[in-house]
Amino acid sequence: MRMYDLIKKKKQGGELSKDEIEIMIKGYVKGDIPDYQMSALLMAICFQGMTERETADLTIAMAKSGDMVDLTPIEGIKVDKHSTGGVGDKTTLVIAPIVAACGVKVAKMSGRGLGHTGGTIDKLEAIPGMETAIDKARFFHIVNKVGVSVVGQTGNLAPADKKLYALRDVTATVDSIPLIAASIMSKKLAAGSDCIVLDVKTGSGAFMNSLDDSIELARRMVSIGEHAGKDTVAIITDMDIPLGYNIGNSLEVIEAIETLQGNGPQDLTEVSLVLASNMLYLAKKGTIEECETMAKEAISSGKALKKLIEMVEIQGGDSRVIMDTSQFASAPYQYEVKAKTEGYISLMNTEQCGIASMSLGAGRETRDSSIDYTAGIKLIKKTGDYVTEGEVIAILYASNDRLFEKAEQILSKAYSFSEDPVKTRPLLLAKVTANKVEKF
Ligand code: URA
Repeated sequence: MRMYDLIKKKKQGGELSKDEIEIMIKGYVKGDIPDYQMSALLMAICFQGMTERETADLTIAMAKSGDMVDLTPIEGIKVDKHSTGGVGDKTTLVIAPIVAACGVKVAKMSGRGLGHTGGTIDKLEAIPGMETAIDKARFFHIVNKVGVSVVGQTGNLAPADKKLYALRDVTATVDSIPLIAASIMSKKLAAGSDCIVLDVKTGSGAFMNSLDDSIELARRMVSIGEHAGKDTVAIITDMDIPLGYNIGNSLEVIEAIETLQGNGPQDLTEVSLVLASNMLYLAKKGTIEECETMAKEAISSGKALKKLIEMVEIQGGDSRVIMDTSQFASAPYQYEVKAKTEGYISLMNTEQCGIASMSLGAGRETRDSSIDYTAGIKLIKKTGDYVTEGEVIAILYASNDRLFEKAEQILSKAYSFSEDPVKTRPLLLAKVTANKVEKF
């Protein structure tokens, strides 16, 4: 097999065989196939696409390029959840304890944030003492004992994806649906859970801006999961408005705790409940309606919050901040952003809200940037709300008051206003299963 022939085949719209894909991925990871040939193939894929079978074979080859985590030492069905990333998305912190409180194991590896979106591991590390670099034996022990553990990625998961993603990033080949689906799912397959619930975000703060593209990405990922023998479901959720009101690490943990106390914002509560119910359903805990009731009860009974406290304690964190969120360190400086006009908020450029938060120190501009856990934004008004001129629409938090000018500029531009009332679109937009796309 010559890489030249594979590039030519794909350029002409041909279909790569399973063997060709496996040999190509192995050769690329080993360094036998140079970046310039892989770049040409990636570009051909961008133009010609891949069939569902090719995409699944590519994903499985990428997953197998490194460690495949074997979760069998953990008893019972293990369910994973993945979000394609958004602004203010702290759902893992809410869902993982709910699902564990209902008796289903959650052994979750999460990532750090980059750019305008945050990462679950950074949020967890905002809890004083919280350890996220945990070896496999301890990880398995925690999940068996408590029912849930969320840790940073250990081992060498999907190295083919790391190498390919770095190449895609500099060759304008990131925005191909089969390549994105293979990239995300290769890491999920390598992480070893039995079932996967995907939260595919759509809108101005998401990777996919249009609903049709989000549904297509979801369809691809569900098809890959099913090819690999994992029950997989995707929910398409709105990311045209930040999720919840808090953006930034400590602020988001506080909002997740409020949600587990039953006092969370309506949008975050709704998305968390639908994702948790689907996880419980895949773990065969009952009908989807029964699973939703179970998830709601885990919140109202306080069992889910108790699970979070248990997980924090066993991972070395100080649970006093969970029981009393005023104990979280707070930013030394605060600044109120005021509406420059009167009217209904018609639009929030959600990516820009994330960038404003990053500029305050809450996120990473590059992989090496450090994070200020206390920094971020508390939104006071969101799309659809009516404001008068001079009314506070957001509060900025930072450790250096010189950061406010730029953040205010970015955030003010992110809001648009209208004289007429604005109807926001529903939060839950579609559900994709192996044989059905259901638009809500
Ligand atoms: N996230 C990933 O992990 N991979 C992509 O290709 C895009 C988003």
